[in-house]
Amino acid sequence: MQNNVLILDFGSQYTQLIARRVRELNIYSEIKPYNNPPKDLSSYKAVILSGSPHSVRGENPPHPDLSEIKGKKPLLGVCYGAQYLAHFNGGEVGQSNTREYGRANLSMVKEGEPFLEGVSSDSQVWMSHSDTIKKLPEGAIRIASTHDVENAGYKIEGEDTYAIQFHPEVYHSTDGKKILENFLVKIAGVAQTWTPDAFVETTVAALKSKIGDDRVILGLSGGVDSTVAATLLHKAIGENLHCIFVNNGLLRKNEYTDVLKQYEGLGLNVKGVDASARFLDALEGESDPEAKRKAIGRVFVEVFDDESKLVENATWLAQGTIYPDVIESVSATGGPSATIKSHHNVGGLPDYMKLKVVEPLRMIFKDEVRRVGASIGLSAELLGRHPFPGPGLAIRILGDITPEKVRILQEVDHIFINGLREWGLYDSVWQAGAMLLPVNSVGVMGDERTYEKCVALRAVESTDGMTADWVHLPYEFMQKVSNDIINKVKGVNRVVYDISSKPPATIEWE
Ligand code: XMP
Repeated sequence: MQNNVLILDFGSQYTQLIARRVRELNIYSEIKPYNNPPKDLSSYKAVILSGSPHSVRGENPPHPDLSEIKGKKPLLGVCYGAQYLAHFNGGEVGQSNTREYGRANLSMVKEGEPFLEGVSSDSQVWMSHSDTIKKLPEGAIRIASTHDVENAGYKIEGEDTYAIQFHPEVYHSTDGKKILENFLVKIAGVAQTWTPDAFVETTVAALKSKIGDDRVILGLSGGVDSTVAATLLHKAIGENLHCIFVNNGLLRKNEYTDVLKQYEGLGLNVKGVDASARFLDALEGESDPEAKRKAIGRVFVEVFDDESKLVENATWLAQGTIYPDVIESVSATGGPSATIKSHHNVGGLPDYMKLKVVEPLRMIFKDEVRRVGASIGLSAELLGRHPFPGPGLAIRILGDITPEKVRILQEVDHIFINGLREWGLYDSVWQAGAMLLPVNSVGVMGDERTYEKCVALRAVESTDGMTADWVHLPYEFMQKVSNDIINKVKGVNRVVYDISSKPPATIEWE
């Protein structure tokens, strides 16, 4: 792809945000680990070095060979990237005297500097570092300072090399996007042509050449991601795409039949497989969240294995994995990082399956998936569907799972979600669902004492599932839904509403 931007990842928690901001400028970018950079750099018009948890002063700091990049292509170092360019080019990096986390304001911006055009002289920037650049590298000129950080920005004379200590990629750096735009568009001359249509075109072409005449099986979930992935693959390889929609017994009420019907209209080659009993058997007596996810992941793989054998010459397994699934499960550098939840659809397949994995949406975020879906003509209703986790209701039933608990939760969820639709609230909520708590509480119904289950309702707003806040649903709506649930769902006598944000909570309870 022409017009590509390379982001060399040194393991910062913000690296994916750089990619996102760059794509918001309609410019495509790819993140590659610093220790395994692409061999052929010809398609990259500019390179960005990310931040890092490492220190250049530590033992074995990341130190890739930039001889084919520095001075030859426009280069921007961010945070560690800026320190790296200083430390290994004759500058000096030392420990900061003051804590430099969070908000700061620029105190000096070099006049007439195209890199900082349109950036106000007191612009707010976001810092997150404990080292600071004490002496600039050879040939460098300071272009920005803050009150505490003298060398907050510099450039190398005679090169298109720029470096900033602060993070332009976070929203809290108010002119951050402008700085990235200045660098990529003004300095590097990258064209702003990355649009959903362009993504579809290049992805379909790439899928065609990658897969050729091979056959692919794809697990549809009914959600936006797998549907968009399937539609892209269908455009690329037509009937060689074999979709499988598995009923894991943990879907929403009526979802299995509704979703199969929905796919009939899309022209996809879909087979429904009801494996409910297999999943519920595997989950019997299991109450640990990660063990439940793993069990479900394992059975999914087994079902796919069985199904793939029925499709002659199937060599690929396609998945609708999107970027947040990837970054919350493994670090972008491929190394071990804090695994928050082992999303079941990430992590590949056991060797014995011999299927190669193809993930057309692996590098894009949820909102981008929706934009891509709209550009390939999927209906607003389908694209507007709330995300639903692969392990389904299993991670919304806290503790062990029984068919009776699944039934109860399906009924509760149905009343809640239908209520949101009827009250015109569904589209203003990013994701909603109900959790069945492992708690019985005392109630009174028709003069009788009850001792029954409690459910928690959760509705959040978010853009990408990485951070989320609870939605202020109208009290009248909550009152109606709570009444309906307690009156109609046998086994539930109490409803609560979850008012936690992510972080520190997560969206799902398990
Ligand atoms: P959390 O609970 O991590 O959820 O804040 C973020 C988003 O991811 C979904 N989620 C999952 N999706 N497999 C999935 O396919 C999983 O194991 C899983 N866990 C959470 C969750 O529904 C939300 O949209």
